[in-house]
Amino acid sequence: MVKNRDSTAAWKYHEGTKHSYRSVRSSTHFLDWANRPLPFKIYPAIEKIALPRDVPQTGVAALAAISADVRAASGDSVPKLQDLARILFFSAGITRQRKYPGGEIYFRAAACTGALYEIELYVVTGEVEGLNAGVYHFNPADMSLGLLRKGDFRGNLAQAAAMEPAVAHAPATIVCTGTYWRNAWKYAARTYRHFGWDGGTLLANMLAVTAALRLPAQVVLGFVDTEVNRFLDLDTRREVSLCLVPIGRTAEGPLPAPREAAVMGLETIPLSKREMEFPAMLEMHDASSLASEEEVAQWREKRPVLPPSAPAGEEVRLQPLPEEEQPADTIEEVILRRGSTRTFDPAASITLAQLSTILDRATRGLPADFLADGVQLNEIYLIAHAVQGLAPGAYFFHRERKTLELLNYGEFRAEAGRLGLEQQLPADACVDVFFLADLKRILEGYGNRGYRASQLEAGAIGGKMYLAAYAQRLGASGLTFFDDEVIQFFSPHAEGKSAIFLLAIGKALKRKAQ
Ligand SMILES: Cc1cc2nc3c(=O)[nH]c(=O)nc-3n(C[C@H](O)[C@H](O)[C@H](O)COP(=O)(O)O)c2cc1C
Repeated sequence: MVKNRDSTAAWKYHEGTKHSYRSVRSSTHFLDWANRPLPFKIYPAIEKIALPRDVPQTGVAALAAISADVRAASGDSVPKLQDLARILFFSAGITRQRKYPGGEIYFRAAACTGALYEIELYVVTGEVEGLNAGVYHFNPADMSLGLLRKGDFRGNLAQAAAMEPAVAHAPATIVCTGTYWRNAWKYAARTYRHFGWDGGTLLANMLAVTAALRLPAQVVLGFVDTEVNRFLDLDTRREVSLCLVPIGRTAEGPLPAPREAAVMGLETIPLSKREMEFPAMLEMHDASSLASEEEVAQWREKRPVLPPSAPAGEEVRLQPLPEEEQPADTIEEVILRRGSTRTFDPAASITLAQLSTILDRATRGLPADFLADGVQLNEIYLIAHAVQGLAPGAYFFHRERKTLELLNYGEFRAEAGRLGLEQQLPADACVDVFFLADLKRILEGYGNRGYRASQLEAGAIGGKMYLAAYAQRLGASGLTFFDDEVIQFFSPHAEGKSAIFLLAIGKALKRKAQ
């Protein structure tokens, strides 16, 4: 019996972690500040390599970087240590810090639920300029790489990925993991969804920076979980691998044969005095794990069939800004400027050109092993409140047709506030972007792992939207939502689909000078 194929586990997890008006009110979960987890993984006793901090900007415009796909670049492209440093910093580095009564929050390059930063990054590399072959852990607290294993272990990773060509030819691969407790301290069993959301926003940055460096990169979700976890020395009740991102390409071959990777049990500083375990997440992870190379190879072939829906109502054509009028702010500037908007100006509006530019640039495709060219798992629905050139109302985005289909005219600020967990942000935004997925079809093809893929894809496209909004000096914030009410709101069009992700876009309220 192949566990991943029986998608009852994903349905059980999804249903069991839905937010509803009642579930939010009846939750007994509370924030135990004295037991707040450390925001960093710290190995006290390993060798560290300092990463260069002052590296020149690429000069590539953010809007170009988020929409580029450099998979097809030919010839060798091998990252240097300096490139890896940029990629790691602009994906997961500390970009701002703020004091609060209980301590300090170190904000990172990509948005993350609760600023809890549960995604860790590891680098598996051959010899590259400035760095010896090895397996490293990235510590954003001091911008260093901690050496976990000496030597070239790329063969192990390639084998675990069933010789996926991008991994097999990569001079270096970044592995993203998720640490349950660091996020579950606040969000309990919903953290498994957040692994996808927060891993996704981080990937949006990572792919944009690799594209700006003209290094091919892609997201690989097909790998033997136990192999990668063991190889990274993870305690899998606490931390698990989520995806691989091979960086660069080299024709040099063959890869070194897989090496013996002994269990190390490296010491790490405990995150909290006490940690709670949430069995629903361990079950979800186990049921979506791939057990062998054969299973990985077969899984990749099981692409779900997702026919595009035909428009039935009035359509408005996207009108993205012409290339020469698009802001040229570099990807580095935009990542450093980004920070979730905490209060939107309810009197502000954005233009259809700005919204079109966001939709067009953010949805051009994600280089990933689970997506055939041009395919997207999530579908995009919108509630427009204040978009010049677009009547207020509910819309469906036809990505291939580059149109917005009107589902329902109306002023829906109050409804949007309610859908976004009764927060003010979605009510005051100019537009709310909802990601919905046809999980039935997706799980039919990809099994439980299709659930991981859907959450991760939404996070990555949402992350690109963040960047596209900030590139145009707009604001944005990820949000959480009442699952079933979102589907009801967009039905009958959305019937049978599941709510996956929400992003509000607008303009920040400028505080008046005192
Ligand atoms: C998927 C996602 C969901 C979020 N949900 C909420 C939310 O419901 N309410 C809120 O105020 N902020 C929300 N945020 C914003 C985070 O709190 C914010 O990203 C985090 O504090 C880090 O700050 P920064 O984005 O300014 O770097 C969300 C962010 C993400 C990525």
